[in-house]
Amino acid sequence: MAFSYVSHLYCSACEKTYESTKPQQLCTCGAPLLVQYDLESLKQSFRKEDLVNRSNDLWRYHELLPVLSEEHVVSLGEGMTPLLSMPRLSEELDIEQVYMKDEGMIPTGSFKARGSAVGVSKAKELGIQTLAMPTNGNAGAAWSLYAARAGIESTIVMPVDAPKITRNECAMAGAHLYLVNGLISDAGKMVGEYVKESGAFDASTLKEPYRIEGKKTMGIEIAEQLNWEMPDVIVYPTGGGVGIIGIYKALNELKELGWIEGSLPKLVAVQSTGCAPIVKAWENGERHSEYWEDADTMAFGINVPKAIGDFLVLDAVYETEGWAIAIEDEAIAEEQQAIAKSEGAFVCPEGGAAFAAIRRLRNAGRIKRNERVVALNTGAGIKYPDTVNVEVPVLEKEEQL
Ligand SMILES: Cc1ncc(COP(=O)(O)O)c(C=O)c1O
Ligand SMILES: [Zn+2]
Repeated sequence: MAFSYVSHLYCSACEKTYESTKPQQLCTCGAPLLVQYDLESLKQSFRKEDLVNRSNDLWRYHELLPVLSEEHVVSLGEGMTPLLSMPRLSEELDIEQVYMKDEGMIPTGSFKARGSAVGVSKAKELGIQTLAMPTNGNAGAAWSLYAARAGIESTIVMPVDAPKITRNECAMAGAHLYLVNGLISDAGKMVGEYVKESGAFDASTLKEPYRIEGKKTMGIEIAEQLNWEMPDVIVYPTGGGVGIIGIYKALNELKELGWIEGSLPKLVAVQSTGCAPIVKAWENGERHSEYWEDADTMAFGINVPKAIGDFLVLDAVYETEGWAIAIEDEAIAEEQQAIAKSEGAFVCPEGGAAFAAIRRLRNAGRIKRNERVVALNTGAGIKYPDTVNVEVPVLEKEEQL
């Protein structure tokens, strides 16, 4: 059996195909490339039961990942995060079962570890020695740490407002780190110029085809953890959209393999009202979003004014009959606190947005009482110390409580 059943790359917008044995970026038409696997052969030679004795990380699905040889795998033990039931929240919202897929429990403290583990491993396999990327923080942190482990040089550009801890992670990993007085889209333009001049590999969201393959493992894990029975709804905080596109891709692949049956879960793209280009496009029935002016939200990972893969996110939402919904920052902060108090989980603001969306959708009667709902908490709340304002009494030594 082959380690990977990767076949080739194909354009998400036109008919063109590309080899996966060479470094590739966007299609000549400007759209992202996606990975195609030889699912027919895999179906013949592998059954989901064969996974039972595999390592408890995302490489347990190596046949469905693009790295050809095990020796190129760069891993910090990422994947197989807990799928926790949220009993108090389920009861409060009167939903049969709400689960949290907790990506706070992964190296680097955010789900970005998945995309970088697979992206960096493939880069190493392809002989790439330097890479560059714009980031809202977590991806840059993860990519610089995995690149360090792989011996690849990295250049990272992030908004000056990105969570400070992610800066430190990049710096500790020895990345060439730059801060920009602007948004991720400004950082993206700078990286675009830089890679043209320097020849570095552009590892921007969806400008390289493999990050999404790492992120899709969230979808495979949810399926496996639910014993290959689909939940009714999956709720995802959406910025660049790679996670939701990846989950959708994974579920379609599992369906083709015959590992899951029936209709796919409704996929829900959650944004902040401070930056909601995909929600606006969905509300207008459009397939492409418009640049969101003056984007601003404390849920920094989803502060993306225009996503290159917006049409792929919207396709996933339309085709699964899901929803796109925007949440105010105050409601995000309230939900973070509510989840910590009721379930003991300190979720990141983006995760708070996902739970707030479940609350809204349930109140609006869209999510039904007898449904099973999975929210992605995409990172650890402790990575965002500056977003929480608490007043704590300070006592003198002699004082009593
Ligand atoms: C914690 C967190 N959640 C969600 C996102 C959005 O990710 P995606 O690009 O998959 O939409 C990010 C991206 O930076 C993030 O850091
Ligand atoms: Zn194309």
